[in-house]
Amino acid sequence: QIPKIKFNDGLEIPQVGLGVFQMDDFEETKQSVLNALKVGYRHIDTASFYDNEEAVGAALAETDVPREQIFVTTKLWSNVRGYDNVKAQFKTSLKKLGLDYLDLYLIHWPAPGYEEVWRAFEDLHDEGLIKSIGVSNFTDAQLDNLLKGARITPVIDQIETHPYLQQDNMHQYLADHNIVHEAWSPLGGGSNNVLSNDKVNEIAEKYGKSAAQVVLRWHLQRGEVIIPKSTHLEQIEQNIDLFDFALTDDDMATIKTLNKNLRVGPVPDDPAWLKESMKFGNQAEQA
Ligand code: A2P
Repeated sequence: QIPKIKFNDGLEIPQVGLGVFQMDDFEETKQSVLNALKVGYRHIDTASFYDNEEAVGAALAETDVPREQIFVTTKLWSNVRGYDNVKAQFKTSLKKLGLDYLDLYLIHWPAPGYEEVWRAFEDLHDEGLIKSIGVSNFTDAQLDNLLKGARITPVIDQIETHPYLQQDNMHQYLADHNIVHEAWSPLGGGSNNVLSNDKVNEIAEKYGKSAAQVVLRWHLQRGEVIIPKSTHLEQIEQNIDLFDFALTDDDMATIKTLNKNLRVGPVPDDPAWLKESMKFGNQAEQA
């Protein structure tokens, strides 16, 4: 049984989910989601940008796990802006996922026009089509701006977070605003070497766990939601087998010293990146 974290809207999210970023192959994605559900995951995180909503939907259609027990997140890419376009794109995502409601919809990046996107999200929420609404890659300044005109406070901000990018300022900001901190690339994306860090491996040895499990456990003890990505059954299983050990305060303090503000992804408030992100993306629906 995976612990759940309560949102500011009263609903809950399973603290561990399967991320499916960079799963490009239909069958592999479908099988990874089915494997995850089989070993106990009840939370899947996709995005229209990943171009695999249909594969996730195929797994959701095939599994024996009842719909209401599974928490599904998808995201709106930056190439869709404008109230009516957002609503049309949402319906396309819902259809690809084969669902009649979505648990969580996120604005993928804070590209210009996100205020109007949020109004469409609020109305889709009122219509009962989305249970909870949130954002991704928003900085504190962008959240301040969004909150000024918002009827509904985002439940979550999904931001790059791992031991080499600990995001302490955002972590505190989100706690102060009762917005859940969700970590993308919780393992550092596999492209930096946090999993081969000596200190992480010393801690792992002490508990008979893997470096990945120590890093994921560090996130959990900070109160974050995590969505580690893997296509390998053994790792999918490992990444949810986190509840039979606990890091000590000393372990947590040791990992705290590893921060080096090293990003694997784009700088979230870089105007050039945000502008660029509006030019690509797939499957945009125009209303
Ligand atoms: P793979 O996709 O080959 O299964 P993140 O979620 O931080 O973006 O990290 C994803 C990367 O980490 C992927 O390359 C994934 O490999 C790898 N990974 C996922 N789980 C584990 C694990 N338990 N041990 C080692 N590497 C892992």
